[in-house]
Amino acid sequence: MFHPKLFENRNVVVTGAGRGIGLEVTRQFLDCGAKVLAHIGRESERSLPDFLLTAEADRRAFLVAADFSKGEGTQAFANKVLSTFDRIDVLVNNAGTMVGRFPADQLTDEQYDAVVQLNQTSVVELTRALIPALRAAQAAAIVNTVSISALTGGSPGSAIYSASKAFVATYSKALARELAPSGVRVNCVSPGTIETDFHQRYSSPEKLEATRKSIPLQRLGTAEDCAPAYLFLSAPSLSGYVTGQVLEINGGQLIC
Ligand SMILES: NC(=O)c1ccc[n+]([C@@H]2O[C@H](COP(=O)([O-])OP(=O)(O)OC[C@H]3O[C@@H](n4cnc5c(N)ncnc54)[C@H](OP(=O)(O)O)[C@@H]3O)[C@@H](O)[C@H]2O)c1
Repeated sequence: MFHPKLFENRNVVVTGAGRGIGLEVTRQFLDCGAKVLAHIGRESERSLPDFLLTAEADRRAFLVAADFSKGEGTQAFANKVLSTFDRIDVLVNNAGTMVGRFPADQLTDEQYDAVVQLNQTSVVELTRALIPALRAAQAAAIVNTVSISALTGGSPGSAIYSASKAFVATYSKALARELAPSGVRVNCVSPGTIETDFHQRYSSPEKLEATRKSIPLQRLGTAEDCAPAYLFLSAPSLSGYVTGQVLEINGGQLIC
């Protein structure tokens, strides 16, 4: 879809790349000539598609597992990134999940901490650790995955998750101003309802069908619908004058 050399000689880091949106983003970066350090999720022993294993054998992909539910896991991942790449052209902070649906009056401290640590704190920790390597690149970009729920508040039981995504959206806007003098752009992709394992876990088929009917384009989204937005926001030749923005990918589910 994009030019096969769009990201030639570019070092790209994608978190949450073992499945879903992050996996498709990784596939498309590899198709455009990037070297990708792909965070494949929590487990190192997981089945991965052939394209990723082939790219690993060719040393175009570097596969790293890490659990971001603890600060040590995020720091260990950052150390692996920095021992692989001395400069980073693109950082995609995409790992995240709802963790569970927690009614506001029953939410425990542990559940609150788990949702915030993964979706919010780990983004800050990883970004902080990688900023020097991003500054070392010519025209680097950070793209953070947020969510339609950052604007709508989401559905019952997702209050802390939705608020964490709103935190990341606002953090990204602040960071865009702060890093602009270093030539680093910061933007977000905000998916609507995307058919990945995410909704298999947290939404019933009935809920998904009701959502589908309410979407102006009359279908749920796919990872393939989302991935081009990450590449667009990462490429200085396509979006060099775009920073501090949130790109909504939702079939018109939210128009405002
Ligand atoms: N699907 C949607 O409708 C939707 C809508 C809005 C926003 N989003 C956001 O889009 C991003 C990608 O979601 P997806 O739909 O592609 O979901 P997914 O298929 O469930 O993928 C989530 C990714 O995050 C990783 N992850 C989860 N918990 C982790 C932890 N404790 N430490 C490290 N990695 C962890 C997963 O690794 P494991 O394989 O180890 O679990 C996986 O790679 C997430 O940030 C999500 O919040 C999704």
